[in-house]
Amino acid sequence: MEKKVLTIVGARPQFIKAAVVSRVIARVPGVTESMVHTGQHYDQGMSDIFFQELKIPAPAHNLAVGSGSHGAQTGRMLEGIEKVIQEERPDWVLVYGDTNSTLAGALAASKLHIPVAHVEAGLRSFNKAMPEEQNRIVADHLSDLLLTPTSSATENLAREGIKGEKVRFVGDVMYDATLFAKEAVQTETGKSVTSGKPYILATIHRAENTDDPARLAAIFGGLSEVVQDMEVVLPLHPRTRSLIAKDSHLSAYADHLTVVEPVGYFEMARLEAGAELIATDSGGVQKEAYFHGKPCVTLRDETEWVELVSMGWNRLQSPTSGAAVAQAIRAAIGQSGQSGATPYGDGRAGEKVIAAMFGKDVTRG
Ligand code: UD1
Ligand code: UDP
Repeated sequence: MEKKVLTIVGARPQFIKAAVVSRVIARVPGVTESMVHTGQHYDQGMSDIFFQELKIPAPAHNLAVGSGSHGAQTGRMLEGIEKVIQEERPDWVLVYGDTNSTLAGALAASKLHIPVAHVEAGLRSFNKAMPEEQNRIVADHLSDLLLTPTSSATENLAREGIKGEKVRFVGDVMYDATLFAKEAVQTETGKSVTSGKPYILATIHRAENTDDPARLAAIFGGLSEVVQDMEVVLPLHPRTRSLIAKDSHLSAYADHLTVVEPVGYFEMARLEAGAELIATDSGGVQKEAYFHGKPCVTLRDETEWVELVSMGWNRLQSPTSGAAVAQAIRAAIGQSGQSGATPYGDGRAGEKVIAAMFGKDVTRG
């Protein structure tokens, strides 16, 4: 009997994660995938480019929910996903990460008694003000299979009473994705957005920074200060771009930086591999810094990826002032962390996800 997986994606990092598992499903006999794109991200550079580059099959369902308040956006997703589940009657609903699309997918499936598998389960910032923390707690407690990327994620779940057979450590699918990108960029001759001089790569989009004018000013002030030492390349998330455009002080800071449109995944991998340091508030980019052997300053109060802080690859810096941000970046340039540990698995997380869902060995020989 064919088994059907209904994959729910909607935001940029989910396309990258789902591409890893979709590639595995495509070569496993007896398992088919149908994909729902909620439409949470919709710009060409935030969505289509990843489907094209990573050769993800076109989603069977595009709900086109677009942007909106948390309630409105999640509500539209719930209604759309529920209809699709009733039509498709999948054996599993597969959700990724901690966005509103994750929450809607887990909740719609759970209410219809369809088993939910959650990739990137168990991460915690222990900051309940974050929408991501709310989304991941609910998704984890509704899931039937919790696929953890790190052993600390498995421990977090155990502390909330979620343990046993339904929790499986598989490693981080983003590590698999980086290995794939490293191979792809060796053969690709993409045009780079950098000038060839040493640079710092930065990304900023997280609500706790963008929605707090003082934090956003500290970040842009700090980045514009370090431009005195080195170019700062900033592929800018549309959320942050629209806030900068409305504020003349922030725009003046941003004028010192090499601000570019969001880039594709392979260009991002090239930028990460070539950078002297990465400064970010992104979850994915923190880990990619480590995968490319680059020091990272995370401009947040806490991180879910605690291993990289203890290994010395990542430093947390709360964006309290421009001087603090600049100082943290300057101190981290040239500093490597410990090597040898493999907290994110063996690069076969995608295979382990499917093996855990269907109880069969799908390892490529
Ligand atoms: C979302 C996730 C966040 C994740 C991030 C990845 C939630 C609550 N947040 O944040 O966890 O780290 O995606 O990038 O799910 N916009 C556009 N074009 C687009 C997409 C967004 O212009 O294609 C603008 C809109 O003004 C929108 C804003 O960005 O209101 C925020 O988008 P949204 O998807 O709500 O949240 P993100 O900040 O992207
Ligand atoms: N990314 C990308 N282009 C960009 C910025 C990020 O391809 O311009 C990739 C990045 O390499 C990583 C993922 O998007 O794989 C991270 O997504 P994001 O920072 O939007 O979300 P988060 O990981 O914080 O949820």
